[in-house]
Amino acid sequence: MMKASLEWIFLIFAILLPVINGLSIKSIDGGSDCASCTIIVGLVEKLSIVYNESIRLIFLGPIIIDGFMKEDSPDIICHALKFCTDDPGQAKCRLYLSKSPILFTQHVLNLHQQHSQPSYDLSTSKIFDFDQDRFGSEPTFRGSSWRRKDCNDFSSAIHPGARIVQGDAIIDHNCNGIYGINSATGRSWEEEFCNETQRMGSTRLFDLDHCNHRDYQNIAVTGADSKSILDIAKTLRRNLINDVPLLVIYSLVGNDVCNGHPNTLDDMATVEEMYSNILNGLAYLDTILPKGSHVLTTGLANGNVLYQLLDDLIHTFGRIGIQFTYKKIYTYLSCLQISPCNGWLTSNDTLRAIMTRERLKSMLCEMRLDYRSWKNYL
Ligand SMILES: *[C@@H]1O[C@H](CO)[C@@H](O)[C@H](O)[C@H]1NC(C)=O
Ligand SMILES: *[C@@H]1O[C@H](CO)[C@@H](O)[C@H](O)[C@H]1NC(C)=O
Ligand SMILES: *[C@@H]1O[C@H](CO)[C@@H](O)[C@H](O)[C@H]1NC(C)=O
Repeated sequence: MMKASLEWIFLIFAILLPVINGLSIKSIDGGSDCASCTIIVGLVEKLSIVYNESIRLIFLGPIIIDGFMKEDSPDIICHALKFCTDDPGQAKCRLYLSKSPILFTQHVLNLHQQHSQPSYDLSTSKIFDFDQDRFGSEPTFRGSSWRRKDCNDFSSAIHPGARIVQGDAIIDHNCNGIYGINSATGRSWEEEFCNETQRMGSTRLFDLDHCNHRDYQNIAVTGADSKSILDIAKTLRRNLINDVPLLVIYSLVGNDVCNGHPNTLDDMATVEEMYSNILNGLAYLDTILPKGSHVLTTGLANGNVLYQLLDDLIHTFGRIGIQFTYKKIYTYLSCLQISPCNGWLTSNDTLRAIMTRERLKSMLCEMRLDYRSWKNYL
C-alpha cells in the first residue's frame, strides 16, 4: 500500500510538472505549485479514506498531518505550506468548499504558526542520469516512464536507440536485452534476430518488437505551443551518427489556440507565427535525426468536444470524499490562471464556438506546410 501511494504521488507530479515547464504564462495565487499541492494533498486524503490506513504518518510533513487531524481542507493545508497564496486584487481560488473567509485565514495561520517548514520547490523536475545521455534508470519524473530505461547509466555510448557495436556480441549497446553469440553459428544473436527487422525507434510493444525494445522517448509536454516546440525538440536524444533512425510524431494538440490567459482570444498565436514556428521545429529535427528517420505531423485537435463530454462528470480526483466535477476543476485552474485552455475548458458556449472557428484557421495554416525534402527524414 505504502509503495502504491508513493507511486501515485510521483505520477501526479509527472502529470503536473510539465504544465509548469510548458507554460510561460504568469499565473496568480501560486499557480501550478498551488494546484499540484492541493490535488496531491486531496488525493492522499482520499487514499487514506479508501484504505483506512495511516499512510500519511510515514511520509507527509507535520503540517499536512496536523491539517488532516483538524479536518482542514487541502486548500487550507496548501496555503499553510505557502504553495498557495491569495494575491492582492485577484480572485481567491479554492478547489474544495471553503469555510468562511475569516475562518479560512484563521486555520491557515494556526497551521502555519505551529510548524515552521522549509520551503519546497515543486518545479525542479530532474531525471537521474549519471552519464548525461538523457536516459536514466529511475522511473520517476521524466525518467524511464517517459523515455526508456538506460541499461548502463555510466556510459553514454550505451542507451536505447544506439547503433549496435560489433554485433553487440559482448555488450548490449542499444539496451534491447539482446547480446552475446550463438555458439552453434558463431554469429551474434543481435544480428541473427534483428538484422532483418528495421532498426527504428518506435512505440510498438515489447512482444511485437523485441529488437527495438526500449527505444522510445516521450517528450510530450502538456500546455506546450508552437513557440516552445524548439526547446522541447532539443530534449530529444538522437545522435546522427551513433544512433538508429527514429519515427517522430510531431503533434501540436491545441495550445496555439488554447492558452491560460483570461483574455484568451488576444493571446492566441497568429497563423503566421504558428507556421514559422512549426517550420523551425522541422528544420531543427533535420539536424539531429539519423538518415532514414520519419516525421509524422498531425493537425490541431478540436478541444471543444472535451468540455461537452466531460463537464458534468465527476473528476477522477473527486470521486471519494468531497466530490467535484470536471467543470469545478477547470474553473479552479482558470482561477489560478493556469488552465491549459481558457477558451475551450469553459462553460461559456460563445467563447468555445469562437475558439473552434480560430482552430480551423490554424489547421488551414498547417495544410500549407510544403513538404519540402528534408535531408534526413521523410
Ligand atoms: C479504520 O481504522 C480504525 C483504527 O484502526 C478502526 O477503529 C475503524 O473501525 C476502521 N474503519 C473502517 C471503516 O474499517
Ligand atoms: C548483419 O548485418 C551486418 C551489417 O550489415 C553484416 O555484417 C552481418 O553479416 C549480418 N549478419 C547476418 C547474420 O545476416
Ligand atoms: C463569453 O465569451 C464571450 C467572448 O469572449 C464574451 O463576450 C462574453 O462576455 C462571455 N460571457 C460570459 C457570461 O462570460
